[in-house]
Amino acid sequence: MTDFTANPFRSPVFLDRHAAGAGDLRDEIVHGLLATPATIAPKHFYDPLGSALFAAICLTDEYYPTRTEAVLLAAHGAAIARAIGPDACLIDLGAGDCAKAAGLFDRLRPARYLALDISVEYLRDSLGALARRYPAIAMAGIGTDFSSQLDLGGQASAERRWFFYPGSSIGNFDPAQSRAFLARLREQTDPQGGLLIGIDLVKPQPVLDAAYNDALGVTAAFNRNVLRHLNRLVGSDFEIGQWDHRAFYDPRHGRIEMHLEAREPVTVRWPGGARSWQAGERIHTENSWKFTLAGFEAILRDAGFRLDQAWRDERDWFALVLARPV
Ligand code: AVJ
Repeated sequence: MTDFTANPFRSPVFLDRHAAGAGDLRDEIVHGLLATPATIAPKHFYDPLGSALFAAICLTDEYYPTRTEAVLLAAHGAAIARAIGPDACLIDLGAGDCAKAAGLFDRLRPARYLALDISVEYLRDSLGALARRYPAIAMAGIGTDFSSQLDLGGQASAERRWFFYPGSSIGNFDPAQSRAFLARLREQTDPQGGLLIGIDLVKPQPVLDAAYNDALGVTAAFNRNVLRHLNRLVGSDFEIGQWDHRAFYDPRHGRIEMHLEAREPVTVRWPGGARSWQAGERIHTENSWKFTLAGFEAILRDAGFRLDQAWRDERDWFALVLARPV
């Protein structure tokens, strides 16, 4: 492990731990494009413009999750800090601009902060500034696709590891994947550690539909931007103007589905392949599962955690859950 005390300036350590090479990533994307129906994994939304568009989604009137969770974190920060205790090792999954974790620092006083994100570049600026503001906290930024494996780069302390997984990002996994993912977190926690996670709750359908169809069209831009990103990743020739944003709640599964729908017959080519879509045919780009607290408690239990505390807003739209290993 890096000896942080040897570094008087406490500059964060940055590691790039992307296991898959560019070739694997390309194969994975092409496989999805050729599937029936075609799929693009939601992790590909987050190129620099996509990350900025997601930040803009969080500011729209319709997208309530971020705002609701922020109120819960602020209102219950002291209780969270009491439950976790000082000097923990806080491991932020999908840290982005690190703002949510940073909001906890004054009360939580962790010894260590590990920020994981698929884009290490995005972490560099935010974590550098944070390290100067909180010199007592040892920090590391790790660029990794933690959806496929949980590589902490040897940066976590042996004990008191607390995973922080806000924003209901777990909703991108289907329930079986969520169980497997949480079980992997469980393997890496100790009896003094745990999990602080945000989950979006099932609620009236119009509220959900509106959150993914904001009037400004920011979510539509976010969805369609994935095609721009793919053009760069695999050298495809998607034309953004040929695709419409579609997002709707599917009550049968309990999830929002996002798709891109061809406006007209479309053929897309990339080095080594091509695919055609008829007008009205779709590419599935995201699932965002919604939870009941009881349903999520069962998922936690299957993964080896027990729900210790849960905080909800007065509308019952979102929950912050603190779980401990069984
Ligand atoms: C970042 C996965 C939690 O599912 O609500 C926002 C992504 N997609 N609007 C979500 C998203 C469309 C977001 N997560």
